[in-house]
Order: sequence, then C-alpha cells, then structure tokens
Amino acid sequence: MVHTDKEMKMNSRIKNFHSLTMNERKKIIAQKLGMSLKEIDDALGCKKLNTCALDKMIENVIGIWHLPYAVCPNFLINNKDYLVPMVGYEPSVVAAASKAAKIIREHGGFKAKADPPIMIAQVILYDVAKPNKAKKIVSENKNQIIKQGNRALPNLIKRGGGIKNITVVDYPAGTGYLAIELEIDVCDAMGANIVNTIAEYASPTIADLTKEKILMCILTNYAVKRKATSEFSIPVCQLSTKKISSEEFAKRIVSASRFAGLDAKRACTQNKGGFNGMDAVAMALGIDCQALEAAGHCYATSSGYGPLCKFQVRDDILFGKIELPIAAGIVGGISQTHPGVKFSLKLLRVESAKELAMVIASAGLASTTAALGALVTEGIQRSHMKLHFRKKL
Ligand code: MEV
Repeated sequence: MVHTDKEMKMNSRIKNFHSLTMNERKKIIAQKLGMSLKEIDDALGCKKLNTCALDKMIENVIGIWHLPYAVCPNFLINNKDYLVPMVGYEPSVVAAASKAAKIIREHGGFKAKADPPIMIAQVILYDVAKPNKAKKIVSENKNQIIKQGNRALPNLIKRGGGIKNITVVDYPAGTGYLAIELEIDVCDAMGANIVNTIAEYASPTIADLTKEKILMCILTNYAVKRKATSEFSIPVCQLSTKKISSEEFAKRIVSASRFAGLDAKRACTQNKGGFNGMDAVAMALGIDCQALEAAGHCYATSSGYGPLCKFQVRDDILFGKIELPIAAGIVGGISQTHPGVKFSLKLLRVESAKELAMVIASAGLASTTAALGALVTEGIQRSHMKLHFRKKL
C-alpha cells in the first residue's frame, strides 16, 4: 500500500504526549491536521457556536458548560493509528486508556470488527385479539410495508439504506401485544431519527393491513444487530509488573474477569470502567452516551448480568475481548454543525460508522484492562492518587 505524505504524517506515532505542556500538545495536533492553533481554539472553544445555534440545540439555554478535551495517542486498531479524542471530568481515565493502548500496540494492537449499521424500530400493537392472524398478515405483506416505510427517506435508499427485513414478535397469550420489528440500515448515521421516521411512516400501512391499533413507534436502543468487538493478545511473559510475576498478574486479571462473570455487583462496576473510556470518546463525537450505555447494559444481561469485557489465558497468551452493541454515527445529529465534533471527526479519521464503533469498543477494552491492571496490583486509590495533583491546579 502506498501512503501519501499526509497519511505518513498522521500515522507517525506521537511519543510522550502526556509529558508535554497543553500548548505543545496542541501544536503537535495542529501540525498533524494541517490546522492553525487558532482554528483548534475556535473549534474547541466553541467560539463558532453562536448563541443562536446553541439556543437551537436544547431548550432554555443560558450558556455553555465546559469540560476538558484530551487526545489519546496510542491506539493502534486493525493496523491503523488513531488519535482518539476524549472528553470528561474524571481524572485518570485518559491516562489509563492511553497506558493500556500503549502496551496493547506493542503486541499488534487491537483487532476490531463491527456489524453493518442495522437498527431496529418497534411498531407496537396493543389489544390485539388475534395475534396469529395479525402476524400472518404482516408476514404476507412484508414487501408492501417495506416499500411504504422506505418512501419516507428516498436519499437514505439511494445510499443503500432503508428497511432490510421485518420480523414479528409476539408475547404471552392474553397480553394482547405484538411488535413489528423493522430492521433498518441507517448507513453512517446513529440512526435514531431515521428509524423513528421510517417506523412512523410505515405504521398506518401496518394498522390498515392488520386492522389493529398502534400503541407506539420507536427505535429500540438495544441495537443488538449492530455489535462491535475488539480484542487483543499479549504473551503472558511480556506482562511486566513491578511487584508480582507476569504469570501471577495474568492469573489475577483472568480471576477478576471470572469473578465479574459470577457477580453482578462487580460486573456493573467493571462495565462502568469500560464506559469511562467509551463515553469519553462518545462525548467528543457528540454521540448519544445514554443510548450507548443502555445498549451495553442490556447486552450485559444476555445470560444474567455479566461483564462486557472478558479475559482469558490460553497457551501462555493473555486474551482480552469486548463485545457490545454500538449505535454511533459520523453523519447526522450534531456531527455537521458542532465545531468541536467536526474537529474530533477530522482528528479521528474514521471513514464509516462501523469504523467509529470499532474505535469506541477499543477504548472500552483499553479502559477496562487498565482498571483491572490497577485493581489487581497496586489498588485503584494508589493509581488514582498519582493523578490527583492535577485537581489542585
Ligand atoms: C472507576 O471510575 C472505574 C473502576 O471502578 C472500574 C473497575 O472497578 O473495574 C476502577
């Protein structure tokens, strides 16, 4: 593969980013992106977000709430280097993710995958007297429903998106519910608006055909058709810690992972550690963190509430893996209007929603790995305390 000068510049890894001053870091990022410092300040200082735009974003606005914006330089995912933007207020999240990503990159980096961007809309019928009859009618008229729903967004259809399949879910006899699930390809968007629009457009046809009543039309945030995974492997002998052997360290990580599989209280906290990284990336990209967390926690209940990241040792190699649904987009929402989000997209250089999902999953795996590494060795407080001086600034 031939790389252009620009790509080479972007791909050259930044070393010791954390030990630089804020201005030095900004200069490096400006150089990499071919931007001036003022352009970065404008994007991240939200100077371009005029009061009018702000007032349209949410209701009753009186100002802007600021949070720190950081860059994690160590992520190597599927052999591509990423400068990962992170926004948040919790100290040590960025440092921890960077540290884990650095070790993982030295052993080949993250190997990540993501499903096509299929979201599900639920058209929910109620007081259904004969669910089997309604089910049959929907099954026999799938094409008509798909055609009608797809008429809502012709541009999405031109890009290859739209309803791809319909399934009908029934519930225990006597409850009277039926859910018509529209599986919709949302292309590179997060998809909530797309899915809700299509479902509302298709629902009168469903009501007409079945002669049943529609209770509501809404996406499910449980984007179970849109999973992302990321994994890494490191030879156990390469895991160096100061006070314990690499074998003992790997054993403790795997034990922590197993315990989380047995205990929902611990799994919840381990998953929170993963969302430290995933939400921080999501915030920087204007992605719906609540949707991300709702999907992740729901997925964690697949067989009793459990951990999203799992670790095991096989043939003297430590394997770490995360898997969860990730509904994140690079178009729509505030991605084209918010200067900070536009800047994050430029920095991250992802070309599709799928690629973005892989980055978010990798950030989750890095955060969890770092947290477990600290917990099973020096303890979280000690590792946090190293960073606490920052709060005094
Ligand atoms: C703190 O924000 C996150 C941790 O509690 C995660 C974990 O316990 O695995 C350290």
